[in-house]
Amino acid sequence: EKSPVRIAVTGAAGQIAYALVFRIASGALLGPDQPVVLTLLDLPQMQGALKGVMMELEDCAFPTLAGMAATDDPKVAFRDADIAFLVGARPRGKGMERKDLLGANAEIFTVQGRALNEAASRDVRVLVVGNPANTNAYIAMKSAPDLSPACFSAMIRLDHNRAASMLAGKAGIDVGTIEKLVVWGNHSPTMYPDYRFAESGGRKLAAMIDDEAWNREVFIPTVGKRGAAVIEARGASSAASAANAAIDQMRDWVVGSHGKWVSMAIASDGSYGVPEDIMFGVPVTAERGVVTRISGLAMDEFATERFAITLNELKEERDAVAHLLA
Ligand code: NAI
Repeated sequence: EKSPVRIAVTGAAGQIAYALVFRIASGALLGPDQPVVLTLLDLPQMQGALKGVMMELEDCAFPTLAGMAATDDPKVAFRDADIAFLVGARPRGKGMERKDLLGANAEIFTVQGRALNEAASRDVRVLVVGNPANTNAYIAMKSAPDLSPACFSAMIRLDHNRAASMLAGKAGIDVGTIEKLVVWGNHSPTMYPDYRFAESGGRKLAAMIDDEAWNREVFIPTVGKRGAAVIEARGASSAASAANAAIDQMRDWVVGSHGKWVSMAIASDGSYGVPEDIMFGVPVTAERGVVTRISGLAMDEFATERFAITLNELKEERDAVAHLLA
């Protein structure tokens, strides 16, 4: 019998978590033979709702769910955590400027970074979903000096999955056959979905599609605005697809991507000219918690331009929160 893996989920009374925790508990993250213990964190006024989520988890009778608890204290939530999904964040309120949003979230992710630093397993793998995800992950990482920067990542997988589906539709291929797709940069409309290296069954997608106008005028903007389009259609922001992407990114990270390129936002080591520590979406392979960047990919003029736009946004976000980290 394997010992249970301890998994913390923040924002656990929210809508993404409602699509996430049941899949984790069912074995969709770590498989049917790996027991998990869930710790659910949310604000004090959400503890009643969290109790309801736990009642439903109980009512699923998942054989892989070895235990669970709810709390409003990050240190309790992250105690010995092997895996943490940081989903809870402060949403943009009416009349709130981007600066205010960054500041409000900086406070949350400073506290949570410190709590991880103090309480989590030294090998914890932390995936930040709550927006602005890249900069929240950067703040949490900077607030956890005793943990390796390699313990942290931000979610760009939803953008990657959105791009893959759209490419499959355009090229008339099965989405599962797509390899070597990249989403660079920030999880925001500035991200750069890039299929210059992508292949399906050994054939280059760029050659199959052969439509650069579509790439620039349809594909890139549609992927960038997909989140807003879902809100418009559904009246609520992406939740099940976000939870699915969180499972995908964490599973590939801690179990393995088996040689397949996946996009992850990780702390920069300086490659591609991204300043160190900025959480930047890059192509990686991963095996048992260890991430390897795909380096040395060529940039043409258009790619260089797109890359600079999303990098500049992340530099601005970093600079806007710098005083809060001092
Ligand atoms: P939601 O509003 O339904 O749930 C958020 C939950 O977080 C609430 O229950 C709230 O009480 C809780 N929360 C707020 N501050 C907290 C704190 N300091 N500690 C613990 N819990 C806290 O929001 P939803 O739809 O679940 O989205 C969560 C976040 O994920 C949002 O920031 C959203 O923008 C982001 N998101 C990110 C995506 C990505 O691709 N990276 C995709 C979709 C959403």
